[in-house]
Formats: sequence, C-alpha cells, structure tokens
Amino acid sequence: MTTSIVPLTAADRQRLFAVDLAAFFFDPSAYPVDVVTGHFDWARTFGASRDGSNELAGIYTSYDMAVTAPGALGTLTSVPMAGLSWVSVHPDHRRRGVLRDMMTHHFARMHEQGVALSGLHAAEVQIYGRFGYAISSVELELELERGAVFTAPSLEDAAARVTTRFVAADSDDAAQVVHDLHLGCAGQTLGAVSRPQRMARPFLVDLPLTRQGQEPCQVLMAHLDGQPVGYALFSRQAKWTNWQAKGTVTVRELATADPATLLALARRLVDFDLTASVMIGGRGPDDPLVWWTGGPRAAGVKAFDSLWLRLIDVDAALTARGYSSPCDLVLDVVDPVCPWNQRAWRLTVDRSGVGSCLPTSREADLRLPVQALGAAYLGSRSIAAQAHQGLVTDLTTGSALLLSRAMSCDPEPVGAIEF
Ligand SMILES: CC(C)(COP(=O)(O)OP(=O)(O)OC[C@H]1O[C@@H](n2cnc3c(N)ncnc32)[C@H](O)[C@@H]1OP(=O)(O)O)[C@@H](O)C(=O)NCCC(=O)NCCS
Repeated sequence: MTTSIVPLTAADRQRLFAVDLAAFFFDPSAYPVDVVTGHFDWARTFGASRDGSNELAGIYTSYDMAVTAPGALGTLTSVPMAGLSWVSVHPDHRRRGVLRDMMTHHFARMHEQGVALSGLHAAEVQIYGRFGYAISSVELELELERGAVFTAPSLEDAAARVTTRFVAADSDDAAQVVHDLHLGCAGQTLGAVSRPQRMARPFLVDLPLTRQGQEPCQVLMAHLDGQPVGYALFSRQAKWTNWQAKGTVTVRELATADPATLLALARRLVDFDLTASVMIGGRGPDDPLVWWTGGPRAAGVKAFDSLWLRLIDVDAALTARGYSSPCDLVLDVVDPVCPWNQRAWRLTVDRSGVGSCLPTSREADLRLPVQALGAAYLGSRSIAAQAHQGLVTDLTTGSALLLSRAMSCDPEPVGAIEF
C-alpha cells in the first residue's frame, strides 16, 4: 500500500469537507463548506490518496502564522510559525500510516521553505509527541461569577479612563478593528499566536446553527482617548432556573496588552444583567484576572494543554528567539523524524541575549529530544525541570541549568488562539 500526498484546490472543497466530516463527525448543516473553508490557503492544503485511488484518505492544511517568543534580555520577538489544522484521516483508512505520511510531507515542505516552527492544537494528547511536538504553553479556562471583584489598586485611575461598548462581531468594520488589535496585542504578549489577514473576516462570520442557544457573537470594544485598545469576543446565553436568571457569558477571545484595559473589560463582562457566570478561555498561568480575583480557586480555573510546538529546523528556531543570559553549550539533539536536526549543535548566546546555533563536532554538554526544545521554546517548561523529569540528560554537570536560565522568560506564555 502506498500513500501519495497531493495538492488540493478550491475545487476539492467538498471532498476535503467529506473527510473532515467523517473524522470529526459534526452536523454538516451547521458548517456551510464555502464559509468554513473561505480562509484556506490552497497552496498549503493537501490530501492523501492511497494506492492511486481518487478517493481522499486524509487531509491537512496549515496557516501562515507567527508566535510571540522570548526576545533578547526580556524583550519579545515574533517568530513565523506554520499553524497546522484540519488534520483528518477517514476512519476507513486510519492507523495505516496516513497521518505519518502527511506529517513527513509537512515537515519536508516547511524545511524547504525555511519555516522553522510548526504549531498546533491537539485533538487528543497522545497523537503528536511521536512527531516531535511538545506542549509549550498551558491554557487556563476561568469561570467567574457575576459580580466577581477584581482588586488592582494601582490600575484604578487608568481603568476609569477606558470606555467600553459592544457591537455585533459579524461585520467588515468590526473584523478589521479586531484584527488590527489582535496583531498589536499578540506582538506584545508572550505565547500569543497571530492570525494572517486572510482569516480576519471569516473568523467572525456568524454560523447560526453552531450557536446552540447563544446570541450571535458580540465584540466588547475598549477605547482610550478615542483609540481602540482591546476587545472581548463573547456570546451570552439566556437561562432561567426557578424563575431566577442564570444566564451565561462565554468569552471566545479577550485581547489587550494593557492591564488597565483588561480590568475595564473584565468588569463589564462580569456585570451583564440576567447572567450568573462568565467563562473565559485562552488565559495563561500569570493572567491578572486569576490573581485579581484571589487565585485559581476564586477564578474557577481549569487547565489544558494549549500550543504544541515543533522545531522544524533546530538551528533557525534557536536563532530566531532571544535569551535571558549568556551560554555556550553543545546540544546533542535526538530527532529521528526530521533527521537533518539529529546531530550536535553549538548554541552560543552573547551578553546581549542574541543566540547563534551551528553544527559542531565538539562533545555534547546535554542530550535532549527535539520535543524538549519545543516545550521550552516559549520560556515555560524549563530545561532544568525537564532534566529533573528525566527528559533531558545533563552530560556536563550544570549545563541543563545554564540552558534553562538562558531560555527562561517572565511571565508565563498565554494560551494560543483557536486555529
Ligand atoms: C488522529 C488521526 C489523524 C490519526 O491518523 P492515522 O492515519 O490513523 O495515524 P497513523 O496511522 O499515521 O498513526 C501514526 C501513529 O500515531 C498513533 N496514533 C494516531 N492517532 C492516535 C490517537 N488518536 N491516539 C493514540 N495514538 C494515535 C498510531 O497508533 C501510530 O503509532 P505508531 O507510530 O506507534 O505506529 C486520525 O485518527 C483522525 O483523523 N482522527 C479523528 C480526527 C483527529 O483527531 N484529528 C487530529 C486533529 S489535531
């Protein structure tokens, strides 16, 4: 049995959708195919066919995205990232290596094109580690009660100057303002993934049958001195229990780089009439909302894996981010899936936090699977902690700690947007 990976075009929409439907089994009437594939970059969309058959056994696409990573000495930097999505294998063809062939194809293409990172959200945690991905950020989902109190004394004056108002999300104007703010905030937020322009409008198209009783998505827009400075995308759902209003608010995305604006937005979100609770996803472990309300229990925290990262090219990826402190270490990288990475690399970071990574024949200071570098890439999941967990081997005593310090960053990365 042989699998070939073939390019798809807009004319293949229905066939692509059929594979996705078979793999994810949702109600197709809720997702008009032209709308939900409207943001696809067809040059990055592929199908798998087996034994020359015209039938598609699998599909995948990737988006031209970026992730905000640690820069030199506490700054931030944006690193291009292929955002892998719509990965589906038809149930008739599963567990015959189709996904493996699609991943090999994706890595080879990105390697060829010089894209150093691939990122994804995993449908199931067991799938992607074997292909070199690792969890690089943790997403917190908060469940706040109506009227939750946020205590941030030094931000009160600034928050009072922020005005908020809400508008329907599904409009060209709202989509452009949201997209511009999204890019601006992502650039200033560690771990944030940014959408390409082509996704800006489709992202906010209302799909009535997916609402499941919620109102159409709204944008709560924050302004300071007449300029937009942040937004929350949310939907409310009316609910009555024993004649008491128990409506819910679900916040799909909340973005601002300014804590006072976050405070103003959060106060509006917990103050809607006829509601009892607010669900906010995509937050990170250092999220101010958690600490302003009194900690994880008060904020009703649940935690999940967020962005899975894979270094496609170890040298380019380690050069693209910055570092907190100098080091000069040889890393013996284990990566059987992308053999061009599997060798000794000398990572040298100067006093200004700028790194260079070159092949070397020197003896290694550390041995580590490529997953360990993906896990630590955003400054979370430290190399020292991974050494303690038995995932990284210190060959020269103290090397794991040195690399750990160099790769660390404050604060923790945020959860990645949906893609
Ligand atoms: C997950 C999915 C893409 C896997 O495709 P597949 O063609 O069956 O995968 P492969 O045959 O190439 O499997 C490669 C390896 O991954 C393992 N694997 C694949 N899917 C797995 C899963 N869901 N859980 C655990 N292991 C899995 C296989 O057992 C195999 O292991 P091996 O290397 O030890 O032999 C496919 O089952 C699917 O479409 N599932 C539903 C949709 C989905 O979850 N998509 C992923 C979106 S992020």
